[in-house]
Amino acid sequence: MASFLRSNFLYTVLYAAFILCSFYPLSSTSQVRKEYLLDNNWKFIKGEVKNGEAPGFNDKGWETVSVPHDWAIKGPFNGNNDIQNVQIVQNGEAGKSLKSGRTGGLPFVGVGWYRKQLSASYFKPGQHAVLLFDGAMSYPKVFVNGKEAGHWAYGYNSFSIDITSFIKPGDLNTLAVRLENLPEASRWYPGAGLYRNVYLIVTDDIHIPVWGTYITTPVINSAFAKVLIKTKIDGSGTASSPLRLSTEIRDATGKTLSSVNSVLTATDGNQFEQQLVVNTPVLWSPETPVLYTAVSKLYEGDQLKDEYKTSFGIRTIKFESGKGFSLNGTYRKFKGVCNHHDLGPLGAAINTAALKRQLTLLKDMGCDAIRTSHNMPAPELVKLCDEMGFMLMVESFDEWKSPKVKNGYSHLFDEWAEKDIVNMVHRDRNNPSVIMWSIGNEVPDQGAVNGNKLVTFLQDICHREDPTRPVTMGMDRIDNALNNNFASAVDIPGFNYKPARYEEANTRLPQGFILGTETASTVSSRGVYKFPVQFLKNKVYDDNQSSSYDFESCTWSQIPDDEFVKQDDMQYVLGEFVWTGFDYLGEPTPYDEKWPSHSSYFGILDLAGMPKDRYYLYRSRWNTEKQTLHILPHWTFPGREGLVTPVFVYTSYPSAELFVNGKSMGRQTKSNTSSTTRYRLMWNEVKYEPGSLKVVAYDQSGKAVAEEFVHTAGKPDHLVLEADKNNLAADGKDLSYVTVKVVDKEGNLCPDASNELMFKVAGAGKFKVTANGDASSLELFHLPHMKAFKGMLVATVQSGSAPGKITLNVSSKGLKTGILILDVE
Ligand code: GAL
Repeated sequence: MASFLRSNFLYTVLYAAFILCSFYPLSSTSQVRKEYLLDNNWKFIKGEVKNGEAPGFNDKGWETVSVPHDWAIKGPFNGNNDIQNVQIVQNGEAGKSLKSGRTGGLPFVGVGWYRKQLSASYFKPGQHAVLLFDGAMSYPKVFVNGKEAGHWAYGYNSFSIDITSFIKPGDLNTLAVRLENLPEASRWYPGAGLYRNVYLIVTDDIHIPVWGTYITTPVINSAFAKVLIKTKIDGSGTASSPLRLSTEIRDATGKTLSSVNSVLTATDGNQFEQQLVVNTPVLWSPETPVLYTAVSKLYEGDQLKDEYKTSFGIRTIKFESGKGFSLNGTYRKFKGVCNHHDLGPLGAAINTAALKRQLTLLKDMGCDAIRTSHNMPAPELVKLCDEMGFMLMVESFDEWKSPKVKNGYSHLFDEWAEKDIVNMVHRDRNNPSVIMWSIGNEVPDQGAVNGNKLVTFLQDICHREDPTRPVTMGMDRIDNALNNNFASAVDIPGFNYKPARYEEANTRLPQGFILGTETASTVSSRGVYKFPVQFLKNKVYDDNQSSSYDFESCTWSQIPDDEFVKQDDMQYVLGEFVWTGFDYLGEPTPYDEKWPSHSSYFGILDLAGMPKDRYYLYRSRWNTEKQTLHILPHWTFPGREGLVTPVFVYTSYPSAELFVNGKSMGRQTKSNTSSTTRYRLMWNEVKYEPGSLKVVAYDQSGKAVAEEFVHTAGKPDHLVLEADKNNLAADGKDLSYVTVKVVDKEGNLCPDASNELMFKVAGAGKFKVTANGDASSLELFHLPHMKAFKGMLVATVQSGSAPGKITLNVSSKGLKTGILILDVE
């Protein structure tokens, strides 16, 4: 199979998404299929419970929660939670040391139980019932009416369980789920509990199973696309009349473009294969995220048995030796970020509005790709990437057979790896956003004897289940990987933090292209500037922060500019996935051993989703639609008068002039002298004096085209509130993220303000969480007060389920109160 990927290989692909959207029940259009989102009225308890699965068990004392639910995110933080005495080999550590915040310092270890009563109206005799879990952290055991109906192990994967034989139609049915998180099982915060959605799918006995369609487009040209749809049927053995599948392809407006009717014959087995044509197809891309829907209706004789919708897109992907990657015939490089799955202050509990906000921020940066490091994403993320236009590398594992952590996936590999890959591929193989599968990240098996056999084993499963996409993985042990045939076995060799060795690797490898699966790992804290400004590795400061001049990284990692050079100069480099888009809970490098740090410093945006300076460095190069002109640092440094305080400008313009209090500091032009002068404009000798910085940008022709200012701030005076959106849906789930700034009388940000802010929410919603991006703050996200960090924080407000107005009131001693009104519609 690997040979088809060696040189030029063309993936002509079309994908579909199993869309599970609006509920109660989800699919009421069809009388035959009912999909219920099991979100409300779960009972939950932390800790082991004897007979927790029993129908008659008294759970009255348990907490009532809604799912998605993360049982650990409310804390409290404690450096002893999952403290790990480890040597992180991949970081080049010489020996073991105590890592306090490695997994976030939150109380996620242990057992948790959930229970829910399923009403009698859900099931009728003769019906088929399946529970679909988008993910459950972890080792989920599912019980129905006291009996175990099924289980899974890996907390990140989606799985379904057929509960037909466990239910009592016409009666109340008891669902119970037991979960358990082991200590030392992760390198970051995994979350805890039913942190993703759970669905009950009730169908006729004869039905299309979960992830039952597979859509590809074997031919695409400007005149037409051939669409091949394979549709599985379960229960066909019980049919008394011939089974017929009627499939229509609809465009985004609902117009039918093409249709076909087929009858299942004895030679078809349990699968229909249908060919349709879409004339003048509109191709999917990040810039044109156009989707189609296949509507499949299954009949037994004339009786409708099932109706199933699959969303898909039409696009071609191609990876060519020496040339790189092209989408729909146009060469491009991945402008990607790696992200962990947590949503900062919401923890691992999935929320569509939170994901959408992240993607909106990334889109504005010009980012077009995401690596779901290092595990399967929530289906909501995949769907949003289809709709908003992001290319995805869907990743599976951080470990294979050789461990990185004591209780990690290495214990599951032999029994579960194939099942996990199959579910990953089946769930997401119809989504046009998914461009490649990743079978692993920095697995120590790179150095193991026969490690390359594991590459082939996992890659072959991906190819078997989806021959239309290539497979990649993030490799860090480059010498092992090059010497032992490991890197040459994978379709797309991906390297983590190896820009200095791309040339060598490309010369030694047969594929003719290389991907920066993980790049940069620059560390910084929003709004923090350290002096003197210098390139530093693993630098720790007393205040547990890192400098935002973007010159600090780890022994194994780089500043962004060093990767940019290789990306720009080498055509065969396919692009990069920066570590990371957003800060995440856990892995507080370089403060792994220095509590209270418990969240990362790698993010381009902080844990609250506020852009750090680096956001504008990436934006200046990635966003080719809008100009960028950003000055750093802030200009409020009492006590630094007369001291050298370098000024950097991140801009899409080639050249700019800096003025300090009206005095020109000269004009700088990007130049190839060094990697940093190529991408940043830097005035390294500026001496601080209070007042204002002004930068005037010039275009290629030398014309002054834009200017930007930063002013020294006075005393904190009032609060400014800015919502990412002012209109929320009345669904009880929507979120508005309100950035709160402490400003002086003139409205300048007070960059050192750390006032404690208090939140009150009244009306048609509630206060949800807050975060300030300070990796060392132990304040809890769900409490309605928090200190501003470097003058800012973000308060998140959640809509209720009825329309109306929400009033957010933010107050702080000595400051004028800020009030914001939001509409819930
Ligand atoms: C890589 C690893 C990531 C993260 C990163 C930090 O080695 O794959 O998960 O740990 O380092 O720089």
